[in-house]
Amino acid sequence: MDTALHALRQFMHARAGVQLGPDKDYLIHSRLHAVLQAAGLADISALVQALQANDRGPLAQTVISALTTHETYWFRDRRPFERLRTEVLPLWRKRMPRELRIWSAACSSGQEPYSIAMLLRDEGLQAPDWQIHLLASDICETVLTQARAGRYGAFELERGLPEGLRQRYFRAEGAQWQVDAAVASMVRFQSINLVQLGAATDTYDLIFCRNVLIYFDRPTQYKVLHALQQRLAPGGLLFLGPSESPLGLCDALVPWGEGSGVYGSRAMVNRRSATEPHLQT
Ligand SMILES: C[S@@+](CC[C@H](N)C(=O)[O-])C[C@H]1O[C@@H](n2cnc3c(N)ncnc32)[C@H](O)[C@@H]1O
Repeated sequence: MDTALHALRQFMHARAGVQLGPDKDYLIHSRLHAVLQAAGLADISALVQALQANDRGPLAQTVISALTTHETYWFRDRRPFERLRTEVLPLWRKRMPRELRIWSAACSSGQEPYSIAMLLRDEGLQAPDWQIHLLASDICETVLTQARAGRYGAFELERGLPEGLRQRYFRAEGAQWQVDAAVASMVRFQSINLVQLGAATDTYDLIFCRNVLIYFDRPTQYKVLHALQQRLAPGGLLFLGPSESPLGLCDALVPWGEGSGVYGSRAMVNRRSATEPHLQT
């Protein structure tokens, strides 16, 4: 066995929860090529030695960025956003006080939280009538920097973004597209590592944690799902990716409504409607 690659896999698992099996060796080599060159390191053994000397510094952050997958696009998979618009928001509209706490928990370069923000604005859930707290987080500083800037190239912009929303919420700046200030101001970006969440202090009405659990092994998925469930407000909902499920991992989470991908806490969903406890009729 290649001990340097083994050590690197252990580093990624310990620091980011990401599982890189031996079948991903090609990916490690190709993604680290530029990192090695930029750091003036001869090979992966030298990189591992540098990480062993300092596993929290900028080099460690660069390696985590290089070995995590940041694929994302606007309104990814469409269906979760449709469910939010047609099934969840009609229930939430009636709630008092008019306040929503939302967390996009592995937001990559921002398309997911900005999609949520645009949807809420289009549906009329915006200040001053509504207080929307939209936290977006990721482990990777590189994608967070782009997300905070809210600037996208033409190719990125096109992926999944309806023309009407482009016209309403983006303006061209040279070859780039800048997200509208009103949408940007709805989102607060923060660096959060899902496998190192502390005690649950804040809770959320909606958590999007989509297309990241697939990179974790089952014990890590178990840990993260339990941590997310503890952060659901009463009646709160968790949106997962199409290949992700709490089944067999977190019994406290059960499917919400008819379609797949949306989960609520068992105690709440069993009371007919997950959002019912919040409603003031
Ligand atoms: C494939 S993207 C998914 C982005 C978005 N949720 C979506 O569905 O389009 C996965 C994101 O998870 C982030 N990630 C990986 N491990 C993480 C961890 N331990 N904590 C927080 N974010 C993590 C990556 O940096 C990456 O941006």
